[in-house]
Amino acid sequence: METQNEKKILLSAVQPSGTPTLGNYIGALANFTKLQNDYSCIFSVADLHSITVPQDPAKLRANTYDLLALYLACGIDPEKSILFNQSHVSAHAELAWVLNTVTYVGELNRMTQFKAKCQSHADNINMGLMDYPVLMAADILLYQTELVPVGADQKQHLELARDLALRFNNRFGETFRVPEPYIAKTGARVMSLAEPDKKMSKSDANVNAFISMNDDPDAIMRKFKRAVTDSGSEIRFGQDKPGISNLLTIYAVCADTTVEQAELEFAGAGYGTFKQRVGEAVVEKLRPIQERKQKIAQDKAYLTKILAEGASAAERIAYKTLRKVYKKVGFVPRERM
Ligand code: TYM
Repeated sequence: METQNEKKILLSAVQPSGTPTLGNYIGALANFTKLQNDYSCIFSVADLHSITVPQDPAKLRANTYDLLALYLACGIDPEKSILFNQSHVSAHAELAWVLNTVTYVGELNRMTQFKAKCQSHADNINMGLMDYPVLMAADILLYQTELVPVGADQKQHLELARDLALRFNNRFGETFRVPEPYIAKTGARVMSLAEPDKKMSKSDANVNAFISMNDDPDAIMRKFKRAVTDSGSEIRFGQDKPGISNLLTIYAVCADTTVEQAELEFAGAGYGTFKQRVGEAVVEKLRPIQERKQKIAQDKAYLTKILAEGASAAERIAYKTLRKVYKKVGFVPRERM
């Protein structure tokens, strides 16, 4: 893909740790495909980020291919967008190192996700877990990224990326473009089906709390049937109705409508009927994606080729920025003789 055109650069990434959820789809993947034609897009499988929590190596490898297949099944077109594996472009780790030297420990200590992960992985609070947002900043800044579509949970990390870009530019001269977040109005924070005050997460111990992108129609219907609702019987969006609001959001995105329209559509309906219809909308949204993914996932040669081409294309852009950074900080350039 050629990126030296008029279009601005958009970059995002998803970690290959487990099977993505409906939250990842609604908050991120669905927006990637929508924005694909308006930007020069770069999408990465963030495998370096994944190992900040323990991973089974064989599963990590399988999940990496699986996530790549999911990107493609969701409609990312490798002819238009660069798709690559983060660990294939060593500039990410290299820039992260330099950015570490302009990042304050206090900034990382304050990160909400770091604090949460310290609790959920109390036996493995490693440096990578803390440094994770700096690597994410490197991912973004290497490509002179304009726009970063993410779910609301990544907003704080994006603010750090902006701060680091500005700080580096101030200290060493104009080097990085300062990225903007793209956080959709609807679906930026899909909540757990079991505890609607908690984010839907693939690492939830309760499998009924999340919809996996691989769930079959029976599992999806069963999970929506069990989904926690709120007191009262009205189907309306509101702070006092976290369960129903979450279901309305999911319905709006999956049935290609708006929350307001959905409220009208279900005015007077009971919770049971509503939950059934939400389940059906999700089944129908995921069905074609799952079918495409199954086919694509079988073609390892195709996936390998995409990763190889993606890494070469990404590398060309990434190293241009890294060379600039190395020069600015005063490293002697390597001469090849
Ligand atoms: P990850 O892999 O946890 O999640 C991938 C994307 O899904 C979004 N998301 C959600 N959106 C709505 N509702 C939810 N319940 C939900 N859960 C997850 C996330 O906000 C994210 O957009 N650090 C990133 C990956 C990353 C990255 C980057 C993103 C690495 N480098 C550079 C952007 C730019 C992460 O862990 O996402």
